[in-house]
Amino acid sequence: KLVNAKAMIQEAYKNKYAIGHFNINNLEWTKSILEAAQASKTPVILGTSEGAIKYMGGVKVVVGMVNGLLDSLNITVPVALHLDHGQSVEVAKECILAGYSSIMFDGSHLPYEENLAKTKEVVAFAAQHEVSVEAEIGSVGGEEDGVVGAGELGDPKEAAEFADLGIDMLAAGIGNIHGKYPEWWKSLSFETLEVLQNAAKMPMVLHGGSGIPKEQVMKAISLGISKINVNTELQLAFRDATRAYVEAKKDLDDVKKGFDPRKLLAPGTQALKDTFLELTSWFGCQGKA
Ligand code: G3H
Ligand code: ZN
Repeated sequence: KLVNAKAMIQEAYKNKYAIGHFNINNLEWTKSILEAAQASKTPVILGTSEGAIKYMGGVKVVVGMVNGLLDSLNITVPVALHLDHGQSVEVAKECILAGYSSIMFDGSHLPYEENLAKTKEVVAFAAQHEVSVEAEIGSVGGEEDGVVGAGELGDPKEAAEFADLGIDMLAAGIGNIHGKYPEWWKSLSFETLEVLQNAAKMPMVLHGGSGIPKEQVMKAISLGISKINVNTELQLAFRDATRAYVEAKKDLDDVKKGFDPRKLLAPGTQALKDTFLELTSWFGCQGKA
C-alpha cells in the first residue's frame, strides 16, 4: 500500500540522510525502481511529472500500475507516489482523488502571493486525504518536461512563510538545474541553502539531482536536504545500456530473438537498477526501511 512521504522525510531530516525521488515513465522504470528499493530495504518516492502522466495514459493508469506492482512484487518498503511539479491546483486535486499519496504544487512560475495562496489551498485539500505536500520557492534552472525555470535563488523570508503553511517539504532554487548541468556550472549555492534552512527549519528538496558531484550532494544533505529528485541520470543510464546493445547488433539476432522488447529493454532496465543503487548509497537511505 502506498504511504505518504511525511514519516520517511521526517526520519531522513532528523538523521541527516535523504530519500531518493525517482521519476518514472513506464513499467520498466517503475518495476526496476521498486525491485531495487525492496532488495536494498530503501524507502522511495516515485515521481510523475504531468508530462509523464499523460504519456502513460493518465492518472488511473499510473495509480493502477504502481498499486498492482506493490501487490504482485510483495513490496514492503515504504513507497510514496508523488506528483512532480504539479502546475495547477486542479491537477493536484485530480492526483489526490486518484490515489496519489504525495503532491508537489509548483507555483514557482506564479507571482509570489499567488504561489502562497494556491499552496495553502493544496495543503488544505491534501490534509483531508492524508497526502504529503511539497512546495517551491525561487526556481530550479533549466527545463523539465516543459517546465522551464529561471534559476532564481530562494528568499529566506519566503522560506519562513512557506514553512508556516504546513507543507512537509520545501523545494527552493539553490543554484540547481534540471537536466544535464552545463559546462559553466560549478556548484550549488550552499550559502543560500544554509540561509533558507535557518529560516524554514524543515526538510528541503534538491531538484535537478542528476550530475551533481558526490561531495556536493553530501554537503547538501548535511545542510537539511532530505529529498533528492533524480530523472535525467536514469534516462542517461538507460540510453547508454540500450545503445550498447543496439551497437553490438544484438537486436538484429533473429535466432536469439534479440528484437523481443523484453530482451531489447533488459540491459537498460538493469542499468536503472544499478544507478538507483549507486545514488541511494550516496543519499544514505539504503537499509532505512
Ligand atoms: O523533478 C525532478 C527532478 O528535479 C529531476 O531533475 O532530471 O536533473 O535529475 P534531473
Ligand atoms: Zn524538479
